Amino acid sequence: MNNKKVGIIGVGNVGATLAFTLATKSLCSQIVLKDLRENIVEAMALDISQSANAANAQTKVSAAKEPEDFSNCDVIVITAGIPRKPGMSRDDLLLTNAKIMTSVINEIKDYNKDAIYIIVSNPLDAMVYTALKAANIDKNRVLGMAGILDSARMSHFIQEKIGNEKSKIEASVMGGHGDDMVPLANHSTVDGKSLDTVLNNEDIEEIITKTRNGGAQIVKLLETGSAYYAPAYSSSLMVEAILTDNKKVYPCAVMLNGEYGYENIVAGVPVKLGKNGVEEIIELDLDEKQTSEFAKSIASVKELVDTLENKFFV
Ligand code: NAI
Ligand code: 2OP
Repeated sequence: MNNKKVGIIGVGNVGATLAFTLATKSLCSQIVLKDLRENIVEAMALDISQSANAANAQTKVSAAKEPEDFSNCDVIVITAGIPRKPGMSRDDLLLTNAKIMTSVINEIKDYNKDAIYIIVSNPLDAMVYTALKAANIDKNRVLGMAGILDSARMSHFIQEKIGNEKSKIEASVMGGHGDDMVPLANHSTVDGKSLDTVLNNEDIEEIITKTRNGGAQIVKLLETGSAYYAPAYSSSLMVEAILTDNKKVYPCAVMLNGEYGYENIVAGVPVKLGKNGVEEIIELDLDEKQTSEFAKSIASVKELVDTLENKFFV
């Protein structure tokens, strides 16, 4: 068992499922949970700790009572936020969650000089931007989870289309976590072959549309919330890569500094993950259509960031 500590702020559907996944896989020795709902968080800490016992794992899970309980985390995952309610504009959600993001980071940042932050709260790319400003740390230490999830959804729809459950599918999605995300057929593979050599254009376009609507499809069915199993598992892969320094490449939302020709904007790109967070940003070759779709996705994120700059960071 390593001696690693993970903090999770926001112990709703995603946060609790993430804690369960990390604890039962024995990925760290300690998990500290924090949520506004104090009784729920205590209950989750006990229930998940006992799950770890059932799994013969060594992870201990506790509910934070004071900000100091979050001291010296190796990784902090933030899922705190509110979902959109009837009558709320996108801007309202953006500004409310930016306020939550800033306050939770302000509360614990002084106790965590070296932690890597993984942001999950939506709107994802704008929340990574907000977290970076609040934490005021090196951009390599703040990443957003979305690309692994979106790629898993793409992989699901590819498998559904080809109908062969034994095929090894690797899907690749870049861009912001929104309607303009950029699924990349030529960087996705089925048994090592590029997707655009396996399926025709019509099938690929169908998969791309389904991938973009993957989150909304689940929201519509659930009615009271959004997906959490795949988001939590995807987050656990990022935590694992950082804690074990395994250098795996995953699509993550990070601040760009000239990569792909953009600066001072957050977007999903392939990232090599390790103990320092972002160890390298991988620049894929994009064709003309993908380049313009990526530009459109960046423009959507920029609109939210501009709103933050004009209405929140003033
Ligand atoms: P949820 O509503 O089940 O959980 C959110 C939790 O945050 C609640 O328990 C709430 O009490 C807590 N919270 C709110 N303000 C807080 C504060 N100031 N301090 C501590 N805790 C606070 O929502 P769920 O399903 O877990 O989703 C969490 C967030 O993640 C949402 O913003 C959702 O849109 C986003 N999300 C993002 C995904 C991605 O791919 N990036 C995928 C799935 C969800
Ligand atoms: C999703 O894609 C809500 O962002 C979340 O499921």
